Amino acid sequence: TVLVVDFGAQYAQLIARRVRECNVFSEIVPCTMPVDQMLAKRPKAIILSGGPSSVYEAGAPAAPAGLFETGVPTLGICYGHQVMAQALGGLVENSDVAEYGRTAVNVIDGGVLLAGLPSLQAVWMSHRDHTSAAPDGFTITARTDVTPVAAMEHPERGLYGVQFHPEVMHTEHGMAMLRHFLFDAAGCRPGWTMVNIAEEAIETVRAQVGGKRAICGLSGGVDSAVAAALVQRAIGSQLTCVFVDHGLLRKGEAEQVEKDFVAATGVDLHVVDAQERFLTALAGVVDPEEKRKIIGREFIRVFESAAREIVDVHAARSEARDGVGAAGGSGGSSPQEGHDESGEVEFLVQGTLYPDVVESGGGTGAANIKSHHNVGGLPEDLRFRLVEPLRTLFKDEVRALGEQLGLPAEIVWRQPFPGPGLGIRIIGEVTRERLDLLREADAIAREELTAAGLDRDIWQFPVVLLADVRSVGVQGDSRTYGHPVVLRPVTSEDAMTADWARLPYDVLQRISTRITNEVREINRVVVDITSKPPGTIEWE
Ligand code: XMP
Repeated sequence: TVLVVDFGAQYAQLIARRVRECNVFSEIVPCTMPVDQMLAKRPKAIILSGGPSSVYEAGAPAAPAGLFETGVPTLGICYGHQVMAQALGGLVENSDVAEYGRTAVNVIDGGVLLAGLPSLQAVWMSHRDHTSAAPDGFTITARTDVTPVAAMEHPERGLYGVQFHPEVMHTEHGMAMLRHFLFDAAGCRPGWTMVNIAEEAIETVRAQVGGKRAICGLSGGVDSAVAAALVQRAIGSQLTCVFVDHGLLRKGEAEQVEKDFVAATGVDLHVVDAQERFLTALAGVVDPEEKRKIIGREFIRVFESAAREIVDVHAARSEARDGVGAAGGSGGSSPQEGHDESGEVEFLVQGTLYPDVVESGGGTGAANIKSHHNVGGLPEDLRFRLVEPLRTLFKDEVRALGEQLGLPAEIVWRQPFPGPGLGIRIIGEVTRERLDLLREADAIAREELTAAGLDRDIWQFPVVLLADVRSVGVQGDSRTYGHPVVLRPVTSEDAMTADWARLPYDVLQRISTRITNEVREINRVVVDITSKPPGTIEWE
């Protein structure tokens, strides 16, 4: 493994992802972790991330004691570079001129990290402090007009530092530098591949669940689908999936779960049609948070009763099989041996991803169910142990794993979709008619995006129905008084920030023409050009 030591903000995750793109497993650890704990993980290399602090300020996070004496090849990036320089006797200072964004760097000496790379290249910088003198024994390998030590290294000690961000796409040769570090400096092997990941994860689930049963709530999204497909591979018919159709999904999505997903995986699926129930609960509600609460609450209730049914059915079956008859209640009547085929439902599968784990402190999380809209607080007497086969994976890895497991592209490449679904894309009360209108408009927007080959460039593409707004139009020879829809295509890396997507005009035009022609009641299409912040991705 490669340890990415997190000095704050969001830097570490991107570094960890890039390392994995080089087919080397990486793990994020906090900068407060003592060195012996890091070494216990037997790292092949260590990377120190950037961070928002200044190394010379009181209370700024420092490298754990002894980190640079371990002999494990270590690369410091930005703040990590400064931490390394300062700890080893170099000089870090505040400079008059900051460097933010694309910066030209001069390579003085290729060394190991910059070997064979152009002498002048673009890198991504984001700093005000800089290293003005490298520690003794280090070679300065690159500088910029502002930063005298933009890169330095001491290959004999296995220490490397760069002021810029090789993990950022805008650093032209960043991936080459990372590869030089991982493979040439640290001797890592590129063994982290999807085939291995899938096999290992399947083995792990098998070992964890044994002969017991598991259930999994499918949301229609990528994560739960991949988690379920993986667990299905591991334990086959011991898994039952529950899909609550709340009627707030996009066109074709429920069918995709019920048909395509089942066809691809052979999973035992239990569908609950709860459309009426959700519509009734949402009647008259316009406040977004109120809608969320209602949808979340109803979801849990429906899932819970489905889970309880499944648990009861299997408990009854296993009792019948064991010949226990009327359950005595004192575990003593059960045979002590050979109980692994009891058939009781003991496990709940969740599609928790690595960013959730990192952001919630990286603990083992064994007992606490993520407060997710899908499966929230289950009642006390339905206590499950969690199976979280995606806990170490990033979203893009989950998608690759889904492909590896043979899931259809429509499921694997689906955009993130909020749990409350179209319920929060209708501004105003949610009714069946409005859902149908929005579903049609949304389907057209998606079709055209796909036809233009832009699916993977766009993070999300909400289509929002302004149900309480009417606008005048003219269609054919007559005046119309219909509703507008808003197109909200955004680009993003993680939904924390987003930019409005510059969709080509001809694509926008096709979407607009088709929606106004094909969807009765919609006579106006507008595009949202607000970034996040200040806007959010969704309108509610
Ligand atoms: P905003 O609108 O806050 O959305 O920029 C950020 C991301 O979160 C999704 N989202 C939700 N997901 N339940 C969810 O599961 C919700 O209530 C919810 N609200 C927003 C949104 O689609 C985007 O990806």
